Amino acid sequence: MFNSLLLAACAVASFAEAQSTFRAIPTLSASVDAAPSLVPAILDPTAPNAQDVCPGYKASGVVQTSQGFTADLTLAGAPCNAYGNDIVDLTLAVEYQAKQRLSVKIFPKHLVASNYTNGSTTAATSDLKFNWTNTPSFQFQVSRVASGEVIFSTYGKVIVFEDQFLEMATSMVPNYNIYGLAENIHQFRLGNNLTRTFWAADSGNPIDGNLYGTHPMYLETRYNNGSASSSHGVYARNAHGQEWLLRSDNVTYRTIGGSYDLYFLSGPTPKEVIRQYQGGVVGLPQMQMYWTFGFHQCRWGYENWTVLQEIVDGYANAGIQLETIWTDIDYMDQYRDFTNGAMNFPVPAGQAFLAELYAAGQHYVPIVDSNIYAPNPTNGSDSYEPFQRGAALSAFIRNPDDGDFYYGDNWPGYSVWTDFLVPQGQQFWTEELVKWYGDIPYDGIWIDLSEASSFCVGSCGTGHLQENPVHPPFRLPGDFNNVDFNYPEAFNITNATEAASAVAASSSQVAANSATALPAATTTSSSATFMRTKPTPGVRNLDFPPYVINNLFEGHSLLKNTIAPNATHNDALNTTEYEMHNLFGHQIANATYHALLSVFPGRRPFVISRSNFAGSGNITGHWGGDNTSKWGSMYFSIAQALQFMMAGIPMFGVDTCGFAGNTDAELCNRWMQLSAFFPFYRNHNVFASIPQEAYRWSSVAAATRTVMNIRYSLLPYMYTLFYEAHTSAETVMRALAWEFPNDAQLLNVDNQFMLGPSLLITPVLEPLVTSVKGVFPGVADGVVWYDWYTLQPLQVAAGENKTLDAPLGHINVHVKGGSILPLQAPGNTTATSRNNPWSLLVALDNKGQAAGSLYLDDGVSLVQNATKNVQLSYANNKLTASVTGSYHSAPALANVTIAGVSALPAAMTLTVAGQPCETGVIQLVQGGGVLYVTGLETFTTAGAWEGDIEMQFS
Ligand code: NOJ
Repeated sequence: MFNSLLLAACAVASFAEAQSTFRAIPTLSASVDAAPSLVPAILDPTAPNAQDVCPGYKASGVVQTSQGFTADLTLAGAPCNAYGNDIVDLTLAVEYQAKQRLSVKIFPKHLVASNYTNGSTTAATSDLKFNWTNTPSFQFQVSRVASGEVIFSTYGKVIVFEDQFLEMATSMVPNYNIYGLAENIHQFRLGNNLTRTFWAADSGNPIDGNLYGTHPMYLETRYNNGSASSSHGVYARNAHGQEWLLRSDNVTYRTIGGSYDLYFLSGPTPKEVIRQYQGGVVGLPQMQMYWTFGFHQCRWGYENWTVLQEIVDGYANAGIQLETIWTDIDYMDQYRDFTNGAMNFPVPAGQAFLAELYAAGQHYVPIVDSNIYAPNPTNGSDSYEPFQRGAALSAFIRNPDDGDFYYGDNWPGYSVWTDFLVPQGQQFWTEELVKWYGDIPYDGIWIDLSEASSFCVGSCGTGHLQENPVHPPFRLPGDFNNVDFNYPEAFNITNATEAASAVAASSSQVAANSATALPAATTTSSSATFMRTKPTPGVRNLDFPPYVINNLFEGHSLLKNTIAPNATHNDALNTTEYEMHNLFGHQIANATYHALLSVFPGRRPFVISRSNFAGSGNITGHWGGDNTSKWGSMYFSIAQALQFMMAGIPMFGVDTCGFAGNTDAELCNRWMQLSAFFPFYRNHNVFASIPQEAYRWSSVAAATRTVMNIRYSLLPYMYTLFYEAHTSAETVMRALAWEFPNDAQLLNVDNQFMLGPSLLITPVLEPLVTSVKGVFPGVADGVVWYDWYTLQPLQVAAGENKTLDAPLGHINVHVKGGSILPLQAPGNTTATSRNNPWSLLVALDNKGQAAGSLYLDDGVSLVQNATKNVQLSYANNKLTASVTGSYHSAPALANVTIAGVSALPAAMTLTVAGQPCETGVIQLVQGGGVLYVTGLETFTTAGAWEGDIEMQFS
């Protein structure tokens, strides 16, 4: 759903155009959005405190297992039934799964833990130790064997296990530093006074509210007074609605179902924690195709193929790289998946458009929504074949009240949702994507609304399909009198006249709307407020569980804007959305991934999806959803990205220049430059806001050309980082606190970040400034930082918050001394860039050394015929490239640039593949501390990396 509070602005100039009605179809009654108003437990002074009233458990019957032990846990007193029915008999299973990973499971005794590992770690060989006591009730601690440091402790707290409520709390050190618990819009360090609610919501980008993703994992770093810091991780594998209460001296974990499935990761560095989480628990991120690292342009409101062609041409004419053009729901026939509107996006014209696009080496990605339109059975012309085919397969989620499909509502009208718990769900999804590809040969799929979003409160009811198609019960962007006049924070200063017009037009709209009978953009809710339901013995209340999580929608009901929790799957267990809600987004992304394997056998699927769960990085990338065209939104994008790097979804980026609201030239300028250093680089905005393609303002175009050339020359570096993420859980974007884990000054830093180990990005995140402050870690230990543009070492003192020049159009990028970056001359696409000459940028550290690496493959295939790894090093005035693997990259190595060389070498020798070269044609120029070596291409005409290279200076 589109959050009206964050609604986009429309240009003053386009106000008149936006007066036209977006869709002239009947409007769903606003009453479908009326829900009881609940009080979230964290705000309810009368809510029971389970810690006060619940008895906890006693452990008995300890049985040693090969890698740990099991025990019985028995309720230690009368049931408290705080927010559910206490489960009397539980099993505890403690398992030392790996040296760095301890698993603690607590689950109802009648269940059997399925995933015991088969390793060799035991309590005697683990980094971690599990201590427990039965006094006064079962409580446990996890500590480090080496130091005795306690990293998790429930001592002093009871463990609560009910059918609809679990609670466990750990004591925390004062001012603890924890990170993660994605997805959230918050500073990188989460602080000591925050509640993270996980209930997937189509809610825009609310600060501290629940939104699309659920990643119940945090990393904690403790700085030990100047000595090495220690970090550990905690992952609580549970997909139910849940809350993490970060309080001054404890973290309390509450879920509304499931069991405890905890993983403690010993680190002790942040990078190790991340590696242990991704590599050992949720799985490594998928490898992406090379072209996906090019620039993507999207918007809601591209009206037809001709407009799309104009956008493609606009980028070409401006000399700005455009790799991929996207279409939003505009292309569909009445917002129905797997269709093309006959008027504006006819298939034949689309095929012609795509043929030309593909011939130019560019790409196309369309949106696919998560709901499937359910046609009006009384109107033959409304038939919609995908629905009929899915219905014939029984591939849709059901309404338990009547056994019919579960009907909700989204853009097209009443809709159903695919049931991915049964094989026919995957079959349906694959067949539809394969069939539609026959019409429109796309390159990847953008999955939207996968929370899953629906405009009714719970089911819209059975028996309404004859009303289809229906308009949602609120105004959509672009609907009559629904123009948003928001602009970035400083617009009234930089564009005073336009800002004044916008204010006036906004007032006129408010006045006009007060006189119109159209439904308001906001939703309604019943005035009846209730705190919570009471547990009923033997019954779980799925729609209104006794513990009310702080779901951010008005009324806080779990039924708001999504499929109702009681909607039922077709599997043997009749699993409900109560269990599956936070997994729907993962499931549809997974189904899309597997469908694309059928569309493109052997090719890495490219899926960008909205809702996601722990481990989704195995099969999808993610964009940050509906942010706003505000400076604050741009700032939060960094912390958002860092949490997804931890979460293992490195293919992450946000709607550059902002989604909701009008952007302006200054914000878009800065944002195009910032996002160029995010793995997924896409500009996208809402329907009816002003166009924001990078070429719309000459200043933004110039800034974009500058940064795009940097990005495209860095593609080999970015791709290598992804390979390392995919194979060994290295992060792509990095927090300074991860790269320099012993510097406590960095624990909060989220206005700067590193791209891989070598590049430090210091963006401008506020309007009306021409300088920016940044920190440059490691200087006390001799780290040198070179300016990317001048290759001059930055003059900065240890710990200094350095002021850097940052005029509009300039983003500060610094190269860490000790790095070797493989570069290719930027072309207009990723494909042409891959065919351009290679160069190396060597940035020497204070010992005159540097290192780097390069990974190459065909950029497309899941299974590679040939790959290549190049280890790059520089020491003792010698540059070495050591090559393994047989993948062939045709372009030659043309240049080597070495920063940190104070004098022109007297001589140079070069060997390629063991053969000495006649170096007469090579030019060596030294100036300003930089050595430029050019004219190398004649020595590697068969390809830069066909053999080892040694370049010795003397
Ligand atoms: C919501 C998505 O988050 C947004 O990116 C998209 O433009 C709209 N839906 C319309 O499809």
